[in-house]
Amino acid sequence: MKAQEWIERLPEQFVVYEITTISPNDYRGIVFTGMGGSGIVGDVLKLFLEKDGVRVPVLSLRGYELPPYVREGWLLVAISYSGNTEETLSVADEGIKRGLKVVCVSSGGKLREVAQREGLDFVEVPSNYAPRYAFGFMLSAVMSLFGKKDPIERIRKHLEESKGEIKETAYRIAQVVQNYIPIVYGTPLTEPIAFRWKTQVNENSKTLCYTATLPELHHNEVVGLDNPITRNLCHFIILWDPEDHPRVKRRVQITEELFKELGLAPIVLQGKGDTLEERLLYLAYLEDWVSFYLAEFYGYDPLPVKVIDRIKEALN
Ligand code: F6R
Repeated sequence: MKAQEWIERLPEQFVVYEITTISPNDYRGIVFTGMGGSGIVGDVLKLFLEKDGVRVPVLSLRGYELPPYVREGWLLVAISYSGNTEETLSVADEGIKRGLKVVCVSSGGKLREVAQREGLDFVEVPSNYAPRYAFGFMLSAVMSLFGKKDPIERIRKHLEESKGEIKETAYRIAQVVQNYIPIVYGTPLTEPIAFRWKTQVNENSKTLCYTATLPELHHNEVVGLDNPITRNLCHFIILWDPEDHPRVKRRVQITEELFKELGLAPIVLQGKGDTLEERLLYLAYLEDWVSFYLAEFYGYDPLPVKVIDRIKEALN
């Protein structure tokens, strides 16, 4: 099965691209844009750049339009694995019109044509994958763009070494959450991975899955736990990182206590690894396998996403 082979070989996707690097602080601001399996790359890079101490605003944008304040002097990184996603093409077009520096990342498609026509920087990633299974290629391409070569190498080695343990843990998690709606809670540092967790369960396991983030969820979501009818349909997973703000860590403990009082046992996870990058990719790889095993338990082929294809066709 193709999906399994791709997930199995994800660590190999972490390769350094030999491209001209960009210094983020040379720009007034940075916008990443992309949808679905490509959009997640911008979320992760925004987090990495902020952790590195970037001094300009960084946005990760999904949709058709650039905010009005994004103008000349900003950098736009447009990421679409197929190169044919209309929202991403629309933002790229707007970026060109406003005179932004635009870099395109894709395996081909219309985005490559636009880049060639307009003389834009273009980073080509390997073709013939489904977009969400090319996450490592796209992330490495954009990390290479910002000169984050050492972290790429470290991630690759770390995922290769941890694969056995990750698969075992993922299998156990999938056994526990099957027949429930998984609810994945993140923190400011794990939020993009919690979101990726949701989207992978949606697309691979063909299953609803929702996410919420601390501390915000302490101001609304937790009240929703009162109703046992909906609460008992769900199984909860909490992702946190040792570098999270101390008050966020305290809030993770309080959340666990709340759940215990309700007789629920959330799965509380932190990624393994020496650096934030390694730990987040550990959690992302774990989630790939959880969604794969869940698909297996429910009897689905993880690969096809027929309804996404249908919507794209309907828009043509
Ligand atoms: C399918 C997948 C989708 C796509 C999304 C955008 O595998 O992951 O979420 O990523 O429909 O398409 P691309 O990535 O080609 O811009």
